[in-house]
Amino acid sequence: MSDQTFKKNILCVGAGYVGGPTMTVIANKCPEYKVTVVDISQPRIDAWNSDELPIYEPGLDERVFNVRGKNLFFSTDINKGIKEADIIFVSVNTPTKTFGEGAGKASDLQYLEKIARQIKEVAESDKIVVEKSTIPVRAAEALERILHSDDSKTHFEILSNPEFLAEGTAIDDMEAPDRVLIGSKDTPSGLKARDQLVEVYTHWVPRERVITTNLWSSELSKLVANAFLAQRISSINSIAAICEMTQADVQEVSRAIGKDTRIGAKFLNAGVGFGGSCFRKDILNMVYLCEFYGLHDVAQFWAQVVKMNEYSMDRFVKRILRTLFNTLVGKKIAVYGFAFKPDTGDTRDAPAITICKSLLREKAHVCITDPHALKNAALDLEGVEGAVEYELDPYKAAEGAHAIALVTEWKQFKDLDYKRIFDSMSKPASIFDGRNLLDHKALYDIGFNVYPLGKPDLDHFQNED
Ligand SMILES: NC(=O)c1ccc[n+]([C@@H]2O[C@H](COP(=O)([O-])OP(=O)(O)OC[C@H]3O[C@@H](n4cnc5c(N)ncnc54)[C@H](O)[C@@H]3O)[C@@H](O)[C@H]2O)c1
Repeated sequence: MSDQTFKKNILCVGAGYVGGPTMTVIANKCPEYKVTVVDISQPRIDAWNSDELPIYEPGLDERVFNVRGKNLFFSTDINKGIKEADIIFVSVNTPTKTFGEGAGKASDLQYLEKIARQIKEVAESDKIVVEKSTIPVRAAEALERILHSDDSKTHFEILSNPEFLAEGTAIDDMEAPDRVLIGSKDTPSGLKARDQLVEVYTHWVPRERVITTNLWSSELSKLVANAFLAQRISSINSIAAICEMTQADVQEVSRAIGKDTRIGAKFLNAGVGFGGSCFRKDILNMVYLCEFYGLHDVAQFWAQVVKMNEYSMDRFVKRILRTLFNTLVGKKIAVYGFAFKPDTGDTRDAPAITICKSLLREKAHVCITDPHALKNAALDLEGVEGAVEYELDPYKAAEGAHAIALVTEWKQFKDLDYKRIFDSMSKPASIFDGRNLLDHKALYDIGFNVYPLGKPDLDHFQNED
């Protein structure tokens, strides 16, 4: 199909974990649209155009290969993309600010602002600009001001369309979403633009799953969704600490409360803490917004969710230290899993970073194994002092180790031959199952001392008394 014969030109700025998969699904579902994904990073675009895509996501490869070069294109020519586009999705990174006013909490909107200015300068025709990045509520107002900051006749209509996909299940989440959220202005041009975006999604999403709201509700809903999800994890992690003191079992507690339909079962697995590029950043963003509006008690309430997460990682390391006779000096700890969750190679804000740094501070010898995240792990720990190794083979990682610390619940770890692993380890051999993934009784029977999370220890020392 030549450019002229495509019904619409869609551009996405930002070829990351969101832009890449979302546009791949749109291109697969809407063959009559030309979808172009642009980025300032040449290596990232080169990787999208190669056989080895820059991100690992189940189901992504085949969908990219299916449409790349037909109606899906990856490029660094941002200006050309802007000129051609009818609809521009902005999916650039919006990390936590590290400097100046709001440092450590507020969103850093420099990338968003930069692209808004570029769109304004380059566009020769009217555009719909869609906020896909997660941004503070009322950011559309700022975008609008930038885009309409001169007297050019070009009209930009801003929509909010936050992304709810989760890494690891991004393709499924996009193809069968619980809902799609579109916020617009309640003006004739706002509603017209909204309808165009609704039309894109209803190629495959039932209309009743496309929720339309005003701009501010849409922007805020994204932050609130992440805050509520993270809050559930912090809540159950706080209960895990009580369980360990009382011989209660956090998985039994989860099951008992999760059966209550008012509570529900999801996001109630206790663990070493949540990670990923979004939860911490988005809650802190909300905390900052609350402070900005003078809502200090509300800010404190949400800040505690982040604090509890830090506490969970710290508690995990302290338990290892305490159990291994209060010293880790020279002891080899095999860290199973580094990605912030299974089925992704993404390690942004992964609990493993904090945990490994703490272990290294105690002068442990850390050997990390992960099926997809070793490259990122090495970048994350670059320059950190201490003995750290990266090993793809989990059996080798455990050789001579005093303990295994399971940090990411990759399915692969469940099916390993733990008798073989036990035989190759220093004794006494311990397993700290930070995700309650493994069969604890079976490990205990092999000879391991087992320390599940939020459950009684299965420890040969105690039981021999
Ligand atoms: N990762 C997730 O699971 C997830 C889920 C929902 C929403 N979000 C939100 O989506 C947004 C993007 O997240 P991500 O994980 O894809 O980030 P990412 O860092 O993987 O990707 C962002 C990309 O934008 C590019 N970029 C930055 N400025 C640019 C510019 N001026 N022109 C062209 N490209 C530019 C960067 O080079 C980078 O490749 C964030 O706001 C995030 O909060 C992320």
